[in-house]
Amino acid sequence: MTQEKFSSRVAVYPGSFDPVTNGHVDIIKRGIRIFDEIIVLVAYNPNKKSLFTVEERIQMIRENIAEINGVRVDKHSGLLVDYLKSTGASIILRGMRALSDFEYEFQMALMNRRQTREIETVFLMSGFKWFYTTSKVIKEVASIGGSVKGLVPDNVNQKLLGKFNNGRR
Ligand code: PNS
Repeated sequence: MTQEKFSSRVAVYPGSFDPVTNGHVDIIKRGIRIFDEIIVLVAYNPNKKSLFTVEERIQMIRENIAEINGVRVDKHSGLLVDYLKSTGASIILRGMRALSDFEYEFQMALMNRRQTREIETVFLMSGFKWFYTTSKVIKEVASIGGSVKGLVPDNVNQKLLGKFNNGRR
């Protein structure tokens, strides 16, 4: 392992963000207290079928980070480590919720490290309020008419209502 210090503390916060939740925003706000810059990266997860287009997801994130200095949003459809190399960033930021996240996160972190030794994954514990908030559960509840108000930002709530109500009523 190299002893070299990272030159600037740019962290890439990757995810599907389909859609962004209050838990994600919480991690961004915690992260920017530690890092100089955070790039929220809408990345491709081949194991997930998405509800929102990449552009819709970017727009929803953008509206929620507009007032947080040092945070921007980007997209990438290839390997995460290649994105980091292309931007010169060395840190992957991920949120850790309940214990159930642990194994999945470790698999990814170790696989990313195997590919590029210079990259470190840093985990931040999400706020207690968001421990069981996942985009998957939010979409499920919203799709059958339940309320997810308070779990997602208002613009996301509106988008979900639009997506699911339009076809039904
Ligand atoms: O929000 P998610 O779906 O849990 O995020 C997973 C994500 C998008 C970070 C992961 O699938 C990813 O890194 N995708 C980019 C392609 C890649 O590098 N895959 C190998 C990860 S070990």
